[in-house]
Amino acid sequence: MKILILNGPNLNMLGTREPDKYGTETLESIELFVREEALKLNVDVDFSQSNIEGELVTIIQKAKGLYDGIVMNPAAYTHTSVAIRDALLAVEIPAVEIHLSNIHKREEFRHNSLTAPACIGQITGFGKYSYKLGLIAIVDYLKG
Ligand code: DQA
Repeated sequence: MKILILNGPNLNMLGTREPDKYGTETLESIELFVREEALKLNVDVDFSQSNIEGELVTIIQKAKGLYDGIVMNPAAYTHTSVAIRDALLAVEIPAVEIHLSNIHKREEFRHNSLTAPACIGQITGFGKYSYKLGLIAIVDYLKG
């Protein structure tokens, strides 16, 4: 089973970016943390990150036929991107949306997700554990 873990804009800045909201772990250390879980679950994971909406759309399109599931933190595009939502719907790859922070506890503009309706579900507010929980959720869903 192959899972794509896809990250949106500014997540490459984790570690130094607003640590009060996102913690001090880098995306690389989160990747290592998730890889430990992937090993336990016996699944292959690839990590990807882009700051560019169109690139994220292309990555999702290219995932068709290569990946069984997607765990995605669309970051700011969560709240704005019809294109990413449409890409998820187009490829029909089961996806779980994740967020480090609890988007429902933050500014009102973050409460709405345009991308979550194209996903099985959303995990939000558990820091790096959101990534791990997202992986467990997608694998469980795919195993049926
Ligand atoms: C985020 C929440 C988004 O609102 C924000 O734009 C991000 C990170 C999170 O993981 O908590 O960049 O997706």
